[in-house]
Amino acid sequence: AWEEIMFKILEKKNLAPNVFLVRVEAPRVAKAAQPGQFVIVIADEHAERVPLTIANFDREVGWVDLVVQASGPSTKKLSAKNKGDNLKDFVGPLGVPSDFTELSDDELKKKKFLFVGGGIGAAPVYPQVRYLSERGVHCDVIIGFKNKEAVIYEENFKELNCDLYVCTDDGSYGFDGMVTKKIEDLIENEGKEYDTCVAIGPMIMMKFVCLTTKKYDLHTIVSLNPIMVDGTGMCGACRVSIDGETKFACVHGPEFDGHKVDFDLAMKRQRQYVNVEKNKGQDTGR
Ligand code: FES
Repeated sequence: AWEEIMFKILEKKNLAPNVFLVRVEAPRVAKAAQPGQFVIVIADEHAERVPLTIANFDREVGWVDLVVQASGPSTKKLSAKNKGDNLKDFVGPLGVPSDFTELSDDELKKKKFLFVGGGIGAAPVYPQVRYLSERGVHCDVIIGFKNKEAVIYEENFKELNCDLYVCTDDGSYGFDGMVTKKIEDLIENEGKEYDTCVAIGPMIMMKFVCLTTKKYDLHTIVSLNPIMVDGTGMCGACRVSIDGETKFACVHGPEFDGHKVDFDLAMKRQRQYVNVEKNKGQDTGR
């Protein structure tokens, strides 16, 4: 009976150096998943819980894709799993779906969205753009990476109804520069106008995207990835400060108004945790 509730890995692919796509058989999660939500994964009996934002899902076939960067012990363990292996636990979908999922198709069509994904944060942007694309809403999408080798999900986005701008920090592929520079370029040089920006990536990237969009008074949603333990609002590990108020990313988020997030506090908490837990600690891979 134990075997039956395991979650099987249907596919595993190396997308970029140290970055893996893990496709997990999880029909119940796939059926309920909405853009913006996440899962908590436990690789085996000894592994920590890893919160990962859903990178894609197929309701009919019943799988969920995750993109994992092997950065700490838990994400390394997860990345070491292969096709046919089982995961001990796969909990979700967790968190509040993206705000725009509450809008009608007509309301959505009047909006102009700009999505910004940094590093493996490009992957969780995908189900959001897919959702809009399926409803006939065209979006602009910026995805940024260190260099050409690190680029992921480019082909996936090309299948959607969006204009895609790939950026690399070292200029080895696409636009030469950070995603923030591309945001400025689109707004200032190409005369683009947006109602909402959605940014997903490393905390530091989201902070600078928010500083940039503030200049244009552009409403910005970010997906926070603090340390999480229970994922149910009980432990307080994922607390973040939003407009001076304490919120739990796992139940109130993970998406928040980026202009209200105290990023410096969030990054300080992440660093403290790394220092305390050293090598056995949890890592979110972003
Ligand atoms: Fe425990 Fe959010 S992870 S309260």
